[in-house]
Amino acid sequence: MKQQLENLKNEFIENITTIDSPEALENLEKNFLGKKGKLNDILKGIKDLSNDDKKIIWPEANKLKMFISEEVTNKKIAIQEAKYAKLEEDEKIDVTAEYPSNNKGHKHPISITSNLLEEIFISLGFRIEDGPQVEDETHNFDKLNIPDNHPARDVWDTFWVSDDINKNKEAGKKNLLRTHTSPVQIRTMLKWELPIKIIVPGRVFRYEQEDARHTCNFYQLEWLVVWKGVTFGDLKWTLDTAMKKLLWDSTEVRFRPSIFPFTEPSAEIDISCQLCKWSGKVKWENCKMCSATGWVELLWAWMVHPKVLKDAWVDPEEYSGFAFGMWIDRIAAQRFWVSSSRMFYQSKLKLNEQF
Ligand code: DAH
Repeated sequence: MKQQLENLKNEFIENITTIDSPEALENLEKNFLGKKGKLNDILKGIKDLSNDDKKIIWPEANKLKMFISEEVTNKKIAIQEAKYAKLEEDEKIDVTAEYPSNNKGHKHPISITSNLLEEIFISLGFRIEDGPQVEDETHNFDKLNIPDNHPARDVWDTFWVSDDINKNKEAGKKNLLRTHTSPVQIRTMLKWELPIKIIVPGRVFRYEQEDARHTCNFYQLEWLVVWKGVTFGDLKWTLDTAMKKLLWDSTEVRFRPSIFPFTEPSAEIDISCQLCKWSGKVKWENCKMCSATGWVELLWAWMVHPKVLKDAWVDPEEYSGFAFGMWIDRIAAQRFWVSSSRMFYQSKLKLNEQF
């Protein structure tokens, strides 16, 4: 029987070396140590042995049982380790590997332009303010001197938040997608931290018929200065300096009188069209950006209306201010010679990758 045990051990050793899966290992263990396994098969004959022989065989059988159990445990660990080593190898990530450079993302032309504008204004001592894109009627209209039923409200084709939400709200509290960045003027003045010298870059929304200059959402940059004795001269200097830094020296700027309920007087400011110039003409007959006029409307501005100051608890007898609004998309189109600002929103990689 001792020989039988010896043979069984050898057979086990031979078998276990070829095993490489947990399932096969389990079967092997069952085959050797299970109730109906090979070891028990041999031990069935133990009852026929003499007491002296039994004393020799029992410890031998136990030793073999322990040996098999231990080998099975070791093999189990070895199989696990091999599995994880393979996984590690297969899923290895080399964080230092170089990413193919043509797949690198980069900033969108509107972000590039917005960042440039921010840099220019920060260098002139302005700071950046932000406001909510879902605004209320008071900040978007009323406090900018555009009360309910004022005809000027029609100028801004407004996206109102759904009737379900707005129907229970009192006038002034109704929500809309802000039509311009001007409400942030009000939010800043209401904080009453004078002097104010801010810019507000941000996304605005209008129910527009889309064309080369108009899109349903676009980006504006608002500037506001409020302090004692601020004059039109300050406005002109700021405008000249910013435009010189932003555009080419040869760019011409012209003022046209206009009407805005929140500035008095008011002006629209055009720049000479860079797309026409690029085509080698002052007025390029195919230019969609300026409709072949040679001028692009880029800014609106002038002195903050005293009523707007007063409604924001700023005393117009003591303080004055100027405010501008400009369209970042149109500036981006002018800077990058893109014929339609609508193209910026069409996820055209071919276009965006050029800048
Ligand atoms: N908020 C105006 C618009 O979107 C533009 C504007 C006009 C802004 C005059 C100003 C301003 O700050 O002074 O049409």
